[in-house]
Amino acid sequence: MPHLTLDSISLSYDGGAPVLANVSLGLRSGEFVVVVGRSGCGKTSLLNLAAGFVTPTSGRVLVDDAAVKGPGADRAVVFQDDALFPWLSTAENVAFGPRLAGIGAAERRRIADERLAIVGLPGLGDRPIWRLSGGQRQRVGLARALAANPTFLLMDEPLGALDAMTREAMQELLLDVWGRTQAGFLLITHGVEEALFLATRIVVMAPGPGRIVRTLAVDFGKRRLAGESARAIKASADFVAARESLLDAIFEREAA
Ligand SMILES: Nc1ncnc2c1ncn2[C@@H]1O[C@H](COP(=O)(O)OP(=O)(O)OP(=O)(O)O)[C@@H](O)[C@H]1O
Ligand SMILES: [Mg+2]
Repeated sequence: MPHLTLDSISLSYDGGAPVLANVSLGLRSGEFVVVVGRSGCGKTSLLNLAAGFVTPTSGRVLVDDAAVKGPGADRAVVFQDDALFPWLSTAENVAFGPRLAGIGAAERRRIADERLAIVGLPGLGDRPIWRLSGGQRQRVGLARALAANPTFLLMDEPLGALDAMTREAMQELLLDVWGRTQAGFLLITHGVEEALFLATRIVVMAPGPGRIVRTLAVDFGKRRLAGESARAIKASADFVAARESLLDAIFEREAA
């Protein structure tokens, strides 16, 4: 099974103080790993290393057994800012990667329409970007990331800018897409409930220097996919207990 590995990573930017110290993290197909931690603890740096945008000062980034030398189509990235091209139609945005890969217009359109249906925007391919809502744009960003059939999907606070209701709907959508694709998902969020609801594994980081302080296996997302309602899950005693335990880890409180 494909796996992305960060092996004993340390990172300093331009010879400055270490931002990450001895971080090891693995992500396999079918896993949904969520990274949480206070601002500045190095979450985005970690994602940029996995994406191949940044090279570690020491340690290794591997896909299977091959060293990562830069960005690749196997690792798609979704940013907080939707970063769509306003001069292209919705379908052309989604199929931008296939266009770079030299795929012809008819096949690109087929890919775009299929991915737009997966993210719940069927038939919107001809819309100009400026006629989409913020939540719809974020879904187009997700559809674009899915257009390359990535093995790993790396997301940096993709839902951070959305209103609460759209955000909950997007969480359900992410779970659904994850369940269908069985890609390895890595998501950064500040939302504690979001982390619990989506992850198969939650990784808690702490700053000074950035490091992993706690790892927590959870199965609420799998319960949701198995048909349990989101409300019932979030109200359940084990969800509430896991939330307290996660908050303790993030704020380094002594567990009661
Ligand atoms: N390109 C860069 N050059 C120099 N320093 C950087 C760079 N990117 C990040 N840093 C520093 O590295 C540290 C970690 O930043 P990073 O963006 O990874 O944190 P984060 O956990 O994603 O924070 P947030 O939750 O606010 O997004 C911070 O001290 C930041 O100032
Ligand atoms: Mg960040």
